[in-house]
Amino acid sequence: MQVTEEMIERVVRGFYAKVRRDPELAPIFDAAIDGDWEPHLSKMMDFWSSVMLKSARYNGRPLPVHIAQTSIKPEHFERWLALFRENAVEVCPKSIAAAFVEKAELIAESFKLGMYGLPNPNRFPARPAPQ
Ligand code: HEM
Repeated sequence: MQVTEEMIERVVRGFYAKVRRDPELAPIFDAAIDGDWEPHLSKMMDFWSSVMLKSARYNGRPLPVHIAQTSIKPEHFERWLALFRENAVEVCPKSIAAAFVEKAELIAESFKLGMYGLPNPNRFPARPAPQ
């Protein structure tokens, strides 16, 4: 079974429908998107088409866009991924849902590194800070 543009559209539309109903994530998107979601949804379909089908329709730079959103906190990524997984299995065959989720997890990890840097090992009591 292959990924199709129809699946990409269902992944994107279904996911952002959940985001817009989510009390944690909706305020972040509502602040960034002024009224009309279609331009964002269409950009996200280009993005996922580039990721999954190598269509090269998206040629933006998403990391600086997320860095500029200072209200995004590390814990928002868990919620984002939970909704993404939930929707993917609702709208795609299982193996394709897993392929979308795998990409989303990798990209989320790289955004977190770019946004917050490497975890500080001195935070953990098991590894005391050097004297
Ligand atoms: C905590 C999690 C996340 C939050 C709260 C978040 C929020 C946002 C917001 C507010 C925008 C700007 C919307 C607009 O003006 O069009 C945006 C854009 C975008 N997001 Fe995220 N995002 C998150 C995670 C992710 C992840 C994991 C991916 C990829 C798998 C992703 C991909 C994108 C892309 C491609 C854009 C468009 C960037 C551009 O303008 O070229 N986001 N996101």
